[in-house]
Amino acid sequence: MSKFFKQFVPVLALVSALSACGKKDEPVAQAPAAAPAAKVYLVGVESAYAPFSAENEQKNVVGFDIDVMKALAQKIGIEVKFVPTPFEGFFNFLAQGDRDLLISAITITDERKQTVDFSEPYFEASQLIAVADSNTKVQKFDDLKTLKVGVQSATTGDEVVQNLLGKNSANIKRLDSTPLALKELETGGVDAVVADDAVVKNYITNNPSSKLRTVSDAGFPKEYYGIAVRKGNTELLNKVNKGMADLKADGTFDKISAQYFGAKK
Ligand code: ARG
Repeated sequence: MSKFFKQFVPVLALVSALSACGKKDEPVAQAPAAAPAAKVYLVGVESAYAPFSAENEQKNVVGFDIDVMKALAQKIGIEVKFVPTPFEGFFNFLAQGDRDLLISAITITDERKQTVDFSEPYFEASQLIAVADSNTKVQKFDDLKTLKVGVQSATTGDEVVQNLLGKNSANIKRLDSTPLALKELETGGVDAVVADDAVVKNYITNNPSSKLRTVSDAGFPKEYYGIAVRKGNTELLNKVNKGMADLKADGTFDKISAQYFGAKK
């Protein structure tokens, strides 16, 4: 095809299409065709993770992560729906196309980066040990070496404990959620639990009868939470990062943080 045709034929076609629309004697459509339904982005969330995500009495999911995601969705102009999702196998839900986004106090790790893409970090965390008040022996992580330790399966807590006790150690007890692991500690099924600091603290504050105390260890690496998207979904990832930067710049993020964690130190 000549250069002329390539450049002008489509333009001519468009012009005639437009003029056809304007013909007076043609019936004018009564109502505009319904706009295609806006995509609803499915957000996977494991909701036994207060204060980040928890189910309230009305069975709605609430928490810091939920507020952040809602604010973010508004900022970037997308509609989101939270879908309860088990943490075990969490990341597969993106690849399978069953979720578009994941938020759930997810630590960004190199291993996970091989299967999903992460936003810029939005929260800093670290592991924290919980033991019974009456247990005065545990002073540091190393003291757990000979003890039975509860973790939430497939979390970074699980990983650090594996590094201390060995991957297949019979002394690691894996539970489906962090509150279940802490319950197990309360009832004496394990001697200690290792989990995300804010979640352990939240549990102890809200369960004063649990009689647990925390032990921190400077050897635990800093962890950073990120929002995960399907690998290669750069378009959504860029939106998320831009939206998050805007939430930080306009003070919304700090406002949400203050509600859950107090004002910035
Ligand atoms: N930050 C830890 C991790 O990424 C624990 C996350 C657990 N989150 C949850 N909603 N249960 O492994």
